[in-house]
Amino acid sequence: MNAPRHYLQFKDFSRAEYDYLFERTRWIKERFKRYEPHHPLFDRTLVMIFEKASTRTRLSFEAGMQQLGGSAIYLNTRDSQLGRGEPVEDAAQVISRMSDIVMIRTFEQTIIERFAEYSRVPVINGLTNEYHPCQILADIFTFIEHRGPIQGKTVAWVGDANNMCNTWLQAAELLDFKVHVSTPPGYEVDPEQVGCARTDHFVRFDDPMEACRGADLVTTDVWTSMGFEAENEERMRDFADWQVDADMMRVANPDAVFMHCLPAHRGEEVSAEVIDGPQSVVWEEAENRLHVQKALMEFLLIGKVEGDCA
Ligand code: CP
Ligand code: NVA
Repeated sequence: MNAPRHYLQFKDFSRAEYDYLFERTRWIKERFKRYEPHHPLFDRTLVMIFEKASTRTRLSFEAGMQQLGGSAIYLNTRDSQLGRGEPVEDAAQVISRMSDIVMIRTFEQTIIERFAEYSRVPVINGLTNEYHPCQILADIFTFIEHRGPIQGKTVAWVGDANNMCNTWLQAAELLDFKVHVSTPPGYEVDPEQVGCARTDHFVRFDDPMEACRGADLVTTDVWTSMGFEAENEERMRDFADWQVDADMMRVANPDAVFMHCLPAHRGEEVSAEVIDGPQSVVWEEAENRLHVQKALMEFLLIGKVEGDCA
């Protein structure tokens, strides 16, 4: 049996594969909008394992698999044996014998890596403490739809050096754009840890305004990610000056877009004026989770589809 291909972090795919995926997403989305059926995954089963809460990820994977002709099964830690100490390796062997593809949302990246090692089928990262590759896939597709190729552009990240920020760093290196990162002292991103030792795609700024200056895309995320709730009070104080507001958008490029993976906290990491304002593309960004993940599942299960993307 050939080893399956997994999508555990953004750098698992090459630039050429992303070019294909974005083009394929466009094709899949257009067909979907025309109500034209596309069922390449007929009879295939996706298992979704959630150890953390979700709205968008669950909905987009479940609806996406149905729209591709397959079906999806939802498991969580609360009412499966996963929450009662069954080893990840055992769960992987059993679940992957009964399904065709698995999506996992969990805590440490090592958990999903252990699962993948023992899985007979492709495993997709639906968010870990370290990475959120499906979200960045949707974000970049959204940018391309609005502004064209992302190569050579500048993304400003304001806020926590979390799973989203780490994934932006990997994407910048792979797809050749710049990321300006501004985090409060003590919350700095570690490019070594995310495997981005090269520094020319990543610039650190103490002042979030400076990070946004000239940016083509300004983006942020919650100050407290899932799993870090105990630090919430301290973070509210430490991040107070890292709210994306109208002043930050004013120093960005005039045609800059604003993105947020959602859920958002207006008045914390972003002002209502910005997220509900004319530069915000957050609803398209959320919708695109559906379309990119359909392309991703199709790619992982049947590979590149030749001559069908016009
Ligand atoms: N952006 C995102 O992953 O949302 P959910 O937590 O609702 O899945
Ligand atoms: N960084 C956030 C993203 C939620 C979609 C978290 O991990 O909670």
